[in-house]
Amino acid sequence: MKIIYADFIYTPKGFIANQAVAFTDTIQEVGTLEVLETKYPDANIIKTEPNSVLFPGFINTHVHLEFSANKTSLKYGSFMPWLDSVIEHREDLVGSCDNAMMMGECEAMLRSGITTFGAISSFGNELEVCEKAPQRVVFFNELIGSNAQYADMLYGDFMERVKASMSCEKSSYITPAIAIHSPYSVHPIILQKAVNVAKEHKLPLCAHFLESQAEREWLEHGEGELKGFFKKYFNTETPVTNIQEFMYAFDTYPTHFTHCVQANQVELDYLAQKGHSIAHCPRSNRYLGVGRLPIENLKLPFTVATDGLSSNDSLSIFDEMRAAILLHNDIPIQELATSLLKSVTSDAADILGLNNGRIEIGKLADFAVVTLREAPKREEEIALWAVLHTKEVSKVFVGGEHF
Ligand code: BEZ
Ligand code: FE2
Repeated sequence: MKIIYADFIYTPKGFIANQAVAFTDTIQEVGTLEVLETKYPDANIIKTEPNSVLFPGFINTHVHLEFSANKTSLKYGSFMPWLDSVIEHREDLVGSCDNAMMMGECEAMLRSGITTFGAISSFGNELEVCEKAPQRVVFFNELIGSNAQYADMLYGDFMERVKASMSCEKSSYITPAIAIHSPYSVHPIILQKAVNVAKEHKLPLCAHFLESQAEREWLEHGEGELKGFFKKYFNTETPVTNIQEFMYAFDTYPTHFTHCVQANQVELDYLAQKGHSIAHCPRSNRYLGVGRLPIENLKLPFTVATDGLSSNDSLSIFDEMRAAILLHNDIPIQELATSLLKSVTSDAADILGLNNGRIEIGKLADFAVVTLREAPKREEEIALWAVLHTKEVSKVFVGGEHF
């Protein structure tokens, strides 16, 4: 048994002072240090520095590790030139991204307090790193392929990857999961088969959806910047699906949709009604010039996520939350900081079906300790000070182990 004490403990309803947590690989009890020490006299006591806040470990629901080599190769500013640059540099970038580089990024995430991440994997290359990473990993095997001619072959390869990730479930912190690349890049027949697999095995499911104006125009009218792209690379001039058909394919299974910046109110309401959620990637959206997700009006739960280094400059969850503070400049700042912290803890855990994200008896003992630079003068500002001042967390635990 271990007991950790911090000046404040984060809960989704606010911060509580002068409490300690007794834990093994799961949380056993929350109470005062005196009571817990008496009850567990042999426990190892972990005292944190003054002005520390104990958070549940943070959850980054959406990251592409395979693009970790990108620094200045991909073109930022606008979606279509970026996608063209991905096609141009993809092989080099993925080829130069080895396990050591991906592990370095897992460690960088850990230092920012991320104890669980959702890894979107196109080829399965990340599986070995994700098995060895200190974190829990929701391993999203991605399905891609709009061309009906190759669909069966691509689906077969996808299912092999799903099975490989299922086989590591027992020996590691991996949760197998399914990702649909996007409405424009996945044929509806294999899309439905993949959704059925997620449903049958109760696997977390995610999909990029309505990230750009170009995607919207292509799906709605078969026009716009994606038209030239499909003509050039796929010799086709018609989209394989439309917005409604794509959304309806997920009707019976809650899905984590990434971006949705170009979704209109009717579509957002539909997603909310069907029990879906959104992964919001503020820096990725800004760097690719696709617009701002109006999180102030959302009626469905959302997470804040980094996306990959293909559209970002770091995988730090605190860098991401600070970007969200600046991007959503009309939302009252204290309220926004509070909702961002909830989005990367309890909401993210509920969305991915994980037994963490809250400091409560029975939850997994995943923690991140944030140490404020001085005592907070007003308790209602702790969320904001934590978001603004944290570059790295001072301690991190996964499954009760200190890393
Ligand atoms: C496709 O297979 O249709 C596709 C792949 C990558 C980007 C866009 C489309
Ligand atoms: Fe993404």
